[in-house]
Amino acid sequence: MRNATVVVLEGDGIGPEVVAVAREVVDLVAADEGLSISWDEHLMGGCSIDVHGTALTDEVLRECQEADAVLLGAVGGPKWDTTDPEAPRPEQGLLGLRSGLGLFANLRPVKPIPALYDASPLRRERIEGTDLLVVRELTGGLYFGDSARDGERAYDTLEYTVEEIDRVVRRAFDAARLRRGKVTSVDKANVLETSRLWRERATIVSEDYTDVELDHLLVDNAAMQLLMRPADFDVIVTENMFGDILSDEAAQLTGSIGLLPSASVGEGRGGLYEPVHGSAPDIAGLGVANPLATVLSAAMMLRYSLDAPRAADRLDAAVAAVLAEGLRTGDLGGSATTREAADALLGALAA
Ligand code: IPM
Ligand code: MG
Repeated sequence: MRNATVVVLEGDGIGPEVVAVAREVVDLVAADEGLSISWDEHLMGGCSIDVHGTALTDEVLRECQEADAVLLGAVGGPKWDTTDPEAPRPEQGLLGLRSGLGLFANLRPVKPIPALYDASPLRRERIEGTDLLVVRELTGGLYFGDSARDGERAYDTLEYTVEEIDRVVRRAFDAARLRRGKVTSVDKANVLETSRLWRERATIVSEDYTDVELDHLLVDNAAMQLLMRPADFDVIVTENMFGDILSDEAAQLTGSIGLLPSASVGEGRGGLYEPVHGSAPDIAGLGVANPLATVLSAAMMLRYSLDAPRAADRLDAAVAAVLAEGLRTGDLGGSATTREAADALLGALAA
């Protein structure tokens, strides 16, 4: 038996419920591949603020740095919502982890499952064949720039270096090579200086990838094209905030944000895996959350950080199977519970 250590950060809201399901199915498929996982549970987010007064302690960050991977549920909730710049916020834990672990690339695959085409807000003809990957820059830009509030005035700074742009754009090209060979770089080069640098660097990096096609879109136009012709996109690469917004938009193409997984990676093998959805405080503790995005995130973890691609494929197939069989949680217009989703997955894995 091979052993791997995974730090689990259940976080807040529905986090604990969806992570519990992912652990259950991962344990099963990993064991079949001779992989035994030690789950190392820690607090991060609002739950950590309640106990330690900060969303991410140094000790938890260190545990994450030493682990083979980190699996995260979700953070945040009304209890910790504040506009006071001095008060701790759950999201700071997430941002601290991303920068503390050097996770500069966030990969968000969007591939609507045929059984759910009719759950998409777009007509079936538009959505059919959509299979895209958003590569979002994750440790720079507005979310990490100098910012402050001073009486009647507040500011956030948007800054990018050549190095920060190049490494994430390379990730996007590497990913495109294994897909359909097309990268769309999204910026706002008609207005922003950082975007002009971004566009210039994307073009320079593309010279090392003559087998991959590159085009550029302005972010406002990209938001529109994503709804008009989603199936034309392969890999979309963009800076932090544009990627945050476009990936939520793209997520909705699948009919629910409850199905979207994500991987955040850096130079090493470790990574942070989390569903794209939030902590859904309105349904927390009710046992009705959709665990599938977390299960798909755990599949990405098995594939990218734990070297268990067959186990990952089995989880992906199980998710597709339960949806094809008609399993629908509330976010998909159904009434299945989290437990029913878990049992359906276990059934599909046994079949
Ligand atoms: C996401 C979330 C986070 C982000 C928030 C919670 C800070 O929206 O992962 O997309 O904006 O990065
Ligand atoms: Mg977001």
